[in-house]
Amino acid sequence: MAEFTGEILFIGGGNMGGALIRGIISNGLAQANQITVVDPVQEKLDEFQAELSVKTSLDAASVLNAADIIVLAVKPHILPLVLDEVRSEVRPDQLYISIIAGVDSNFIQGRLGQENSVIRVMPNIAATVGASASALAGIATNEQFDFVQKMFESVGEVVRVEEHLIDSVTGLSGSGSAYVFTVIEAMADGGLLMGLPRPVALKLAAQTVFGAAKMMLESGEHPALLRDRVTTPGGTTIAGLHKLEKGKLRNSLIDAVEAATKRAYKLKKKARKGK
Ligand SMILES: NC(=O)c1ccc[n+]([C@@H]2O[C@H](COP(=O)([O-])OP(=O)(O)OC[C@H]3O[C@@H](n4cnc5c(N)ncnc54)[C@H](OP(=O)(O)O)[C@@H]3O)[C@@H](O)[C@H]2O)c1
Repeated sequence: MAEFTGEILFIGGGNMGGALIRGIISNGLAQANQITVVDPVQEKLDEFQAELSVKTSLDAASVLNAADIIVLAVKPHILPLVLDEVRSEVRPDQLYISIIAGVDSNFIQGRLGQENSVIRVMPNIAATVGASASALAGIATNEQFDFVQKMFESVGEVVRVEEHLIDSVTGLSGSGSAYVFTVIEAMADGGLLMGLPRPVALKLAAQTVFGAAKMMLESGEHPALLRDRVTTPGGTTIAGLHKLEKGKLRNSLIDAVEAATKRAYKLKKKARKGK
């Protein structure tokens, strides 16, 4: 892929915007002087300037026209205000990337009023430690998708999906970090019950989850195969697994993904009606 020599504008310099800017710069996808951050809080902009030497602005409309790629990283309720604010400055050749939950790419395209390419990304909070699970969808060229994939690979793993599946991604990986935090906490509580000090139990539980995920991702093997390999007849692990089956852990997690997916769909419908 040719080196990117254009300008990237981030509208919203919060958790996700900040993580992505750090990832892009540290992976050499763009230089700091090709990046501008817009945020309403001057102190935050000063921090970006001091830490990363990026350009900053309090006003999206005044810097939008110069950008080739615009990353929309504000909260969902702010998005319509931002799009209305910048609309008169939009160039049709600009690529828009939205990480905003519950907003379709064709809504953004319609609101921009031009035939811009729009790529929608659903990352998760682990982007802040370079370990996001992100999914891409939208209306764009293959070259644009390739570039955006590289951008999000700078903060973790990336898959591409059809846009109608983005709500399912929200239900699985978008919301999933919170499920896993709950699993880790519960495992650690089990350790506590069995006499382990809390910090020891939490560290062991978190590292166990991390290690199992790493093994699966690196080997490419199905989790059931990996589980069978560590489950000996009459051993300790099968005793624990038996309890998990009785407690319907698997069923609960499947239900959780289904409930969050349905909720994402509902919120999207509600937001659209409100516009
Ligand atoms: N966090 C996640 O796990 C996650 C996962 C997937 C998708 N997302 C999506 O990512 C988006 C950003 O999430 P986040 O966690 O990064 O939120 P965040 O930390 O609140 O960041 C949003 C930033 O936008 C700023 N902002 C508010 N109004 C603005 C405006 N008019 N122009 C420019 N910037 C403005 C906010 O400033 P103030 O704080 O001063 O208002 C804040 O710095 C959300 O839409 C969310 O749906 C988040």
